[in-house]
Amino acid sequence: MCGIVGYVGRADNGHQHKALDVVLEGLRRLEYRGYDSAGVAVLADGEVFSAKKAGKLSNLLNELEENPLPESLTGIGHTRWATHGGPTDLNAHPHLADGGKLALIHNGIIENFAELKEELLAKGVTFLSETDTEVAAALLADEYQADADLEPKIRLTVAMQRACQRLEGAFTLLAIHADLPGVVVAARRNSPLVVGLGDGENFLGSDVSGFIDYTRRAVELGQDQIVTITPDEVVITDFFGLPATGKEYHVDWDAAAAEKDGYPSFMEKEIHEQPRAIRDTLLGRTDANGALILDELRISESILRSVDKIVVIACGTSAYVGQVAKYAIEHWCRIPTEVELSHEFRYRDPIVNEKTLVVAISQSGETMDTLMAVRHAREQGAKVLAICNTNGSTIPRESDAVLYTHAGPEIAVASTKAFLAQITAAYVLGLYLAQLRGNKFADEIRVILDELSATPAKVQEVLDREQEVKDLAASMKDVESVLFLGRHVGFPVAMEGALKLKELAYIHAEGFAAGELKHGPIALIDEGQPVFVVVPSPRGRDSLHAKVVSNIQEVRARGAKTIVIAEEGDEAVRAYAEHVFYIPQTPTLLAPLLATVPLQIFACALATAKGFDVDQPRNLAKSVTVE
Ligand code: G6P
Repeated sequence: MCGIVGYVGRADNGHQHKALDVVLEGLRRLEYRGYDSAGVAVLADGEVFSAKKAGKLSNLLNELEENPLPESLTGIGHTRWATHGGPTDLNAHPHLADGGKLALIHNGIIENFAELKEELLAKGVTFLSETDTEVAAALLADEYQADADLEPKIRLTVAMQRACQRLEGAFTLLAIHADLPGVVVAARRNSPLVVGLGDGENFLGSDVSGFIDYTRRAVELGQDQIVTITPDEVVITDFFGLPATGKEYHVDWDAAAAEKDGYPSFMEKEIHEQPRAIRDTLLGRTDANGALILDELRISESILRSVDKIVVIACGTSAYVGQVAKYAIEHWCRIPTEVELSHEFRYRDPIVNEKTLVVAISQSGETMDTLMAVRHAREQGAKVLAICNTNGSTIPRESDAVLYTHAGPEIAVASTKAFLAQITAAYVLGLYLAQLRGNKFADEIRVILDELSATPAKVQEVLDREQEVKDLAASMKDVESVLFLGRHVGFPVAMEGALKLKELAYIHAEGFAAGELKHGPIALIDEGQPVFVVVPSPRGRDSLHAKVVSNIQEVRARGAKTIVIAEEGDEAVRAYAEHVFYIPQTPTLLAPLLATVPLQIFACALATAKGFDVDQPRNLAKSVTVE
């Protein structure tokens, strides 16, 4: 939620980068974090110049074309997902204070803003917006004024330290002051911020995509830290001025990975990157004998052997990964596995202890509810393992161990390739635990791993037939409601299919466990109601297939138009479906890697047919960093 960029450069560093260009480029890349408004501020001739506009970044660009800002080497920029105060020009960031000499941008929520505002009002401060951010700007200005004798170079840093000591909640703050050209001061608590290291220039961003065009050297900051950047220096302290350090790392993807690469949208590109995302997530996880190795897991084998319960916590699409993980882990490892939405987990006094392994799944590594749930679980003595796609993010840093997915940057707000990469990582974890705890023999694990290694090519087969799904979506562009049914691992797939359609096409969509049909959802079926059914393999055990075929007949008898996702060779379903989309054969447990793909393509194509922006759906943000 909210994208933040900061830049400082030296005139003679040879790059000729201008602050405004760097900041706007960063905002373009970070716009997926929020698009309710955008704004920038630069320093020139001892003054702050700023511009801000409600709506997408393009509105700000138009404004800057009409009213350009002066050239500068110091700048900050913000793209907003509104919390306090609606998405208006006035509530857009930056917010100014100190008579217009200080500009501040913010990601997060200041929880004690009301009492601080009262205090500042009593001192005669006036406010223009309804935001908590303007209160933080005024507080920072107040602290800045309180120490007029301090050396100018450290005055803003000290003011930021003092302001942060008083702020409660979640915040990343970036500030510039007219007295201090070549300086950006930033702070972070519970919200993301990374530093980009340049040569005669330095950068700040909510994540590395904010500066990926200029450097791949990044520094991960810790909780409650302040960083002051100048063109030649990066100084990190805690909120009390004590020296602190960040962890430098190399970003293993470049700017090209964050471009659309000829696709009409990031979402389409990312759907097409899924074979690679699965392949890269499997890469390097086995030794020469084919045994799984997870060197990066910093939890000892003896602890993993003693685990008696697994709790998966996540939000949104990542939570559906948890449900797939539950089926796989319980089946392969015989460890009781619960799945819970992070925000429900932390407020219900969950029973977790030293023998519980909590698996936190998060693409961004920044989802606030998941982060808070991680902290809560660790306080109860549980070990936390993160499955995450974003290097340097907070959730892996605060977990005991991390299994990185290697999906590459995911820009479209609705998750696709990260979903399949997370499922892959969950399978790897399940198989690793089965290996470690002796639940499965090596040759059994080998067979499943071979099947898993074959899935990227099978996903590609599905993608090669995408036109079939796109045509179907175009023909259904005026439907008002779509239902999705699935059993076993097909149930989370059905829910993910419905979520994608809600997120992108803004139509009513619901996913159900097919077995639940007769307990309510069947009442929704009316003449012509489209129902997607995810059918398990007829080769599987437990007569699951027959049960789902019965469910198809039940909805069809009541007028539903059925669209069936079935395994190649499953001729039995043909008679009951208006449309069948066949996916390649694979073991039931691995089927979500294939069955999800047509549903993603369908949602994307239907939203496109309705004329919606699939990369930036209304009201949503990619990274939900507020509770
Ligand atoms: C937001 C995004 C979803 C994502 C969810 C969880 O709602 O729009 O695509 O699944 O957050 O995010 P995480 O980064 O924790 O996986």
